[in-house]
Amino acid sequence: MRQEPLRGLLLAGGTGSRLRPLTYTGAKQLLPVANKPILFYVVEAMVAAGVREIAVVVGDTRAEVEAALGDGRRFGATLTYVPQARPLGLADAVRTAQPVLGDAPFLMVLGDNLLRGGYGSLVERFRAGPWAAAILVSPVDRPQAFGVAVLDPAGRVVRLVEKPRDPPSRLALVGAYCFDPLVHTVIADLQPSPRGEYEITDAIQGLVDRGLPVDAAVVEGWWKDTGRPEDILEANRLVLEDRTEFRLEGTVSADSQVTGRVALGPGSRVVDSVLRGPAVLGADVVVEHAYIGPYTALGDGCVLRNSEIEHSVVLPGCRIEDVPARIDQSLLGRDVVLTGRPHRPRAVRLVLGDRSQAEL
Ligand code: TTP
Repeated sequence: MRQEPLRGLLLAGGTGSRLRPLTYTGAKQLLPVANKPILFYVVEAMVAAGVREIAVVVGDTRAEVEAALGDGRRFGATLTYVPQARPLGLADAVRTAQPVLGDAPFLMVLGDNLLRGGYGSLVERFRAGPWAAAILVSPVDRPQAFGVAVLDPAGRVVRLVEKPRDPPSRLALVGAYCFDPLVHTVIADLQPSPRGEYEITDAIQGLVDRGLPVDAAVVEGWWKDTGRPEDILEANRLVLEDRTEFRLEGTVSADSQVTGRVALGPGSRVVDSVLRGPAVLGADVVVEHAYIGPYTALGDGCVLRNSEIEHSVVLPGCRIEDVPARIDQSLLGRDVVLTGRPHRPRAVRLVLGDRSQAEL
């Protein structure tokens, strides 16, 4: 049984290439799910698992991440930022943070992964046994896109493969791991993988190869890696389903209809509209002659007029007016303007940034 508290290692660097264009202007870990940055859920879950001293690995988006998390006091944590020169892989991030982690055992989590059940049971299992590492796994449909683990009947890890072409199992590594400081010695000897990254799966395999016990448990409840736009929408749906509470802080006109769990922020105004939860609207949002359907999150200061939207994530400051079709399954960055074109020709006019996507 380990007595000492675990340190934390939070990975908030990386490239976020699969979330372009949103990640051209911001960190992917700060994209909001149910109007709260993904990274906030992660830090809160670390603190809930008893991990308070956290090293945060940051890359190009360091300033933004630091501005959002601060010194960690608001979460009840102490944060130390560790710049990673280049995103050379998860094991490289561990190596970069080693001087801060020292010789303490630690909980490492990916800043863009959400886990409904948190990390408490993982930390408990790790502390209770003789483990060199403990990981969480979850069955997935496309194991080719993940690090994959093969377990023995007792739940010990036998073998790990990163993004296998021919997957030996359907159990993907969920982005949460506990490590004994021994892992640093393994990482010091690691070679880059064929894709040029120092893989955490290779580091864990190194522990197994040295005959050290690595525990694995299948996660209960949902797990969401938010690496792609469709994942953000799905995470938004899951969190809204779980956590939305009915709360109207703004004003709703008598000719409007609000059904289900809808959270409306202060200073917001709803006029002649239909709102169906679960949905969350931030502060100072204006909704007029509009429909907002389930699983929608509108950020602060958004305006929605004569338009319909559902199952979407809209970042702060967007204006959506007179759009003729219902907006569905959409992810809009900050200050996006979408307007209808009432006059002829009824053509579509677009100003889209690099790598934008539009389905018309
Ligand atoms: P990934 O999603 O695997 O990588 P990425 O952020 O580079 O994204 P993409 O594949 O779309 O380009 O990273 C998982 C998490 O770990 C994420 O929060 C970013 C972080 N990370 C680091 O901090 N340092 C690294 O070297 C890498 C590869 C990722």
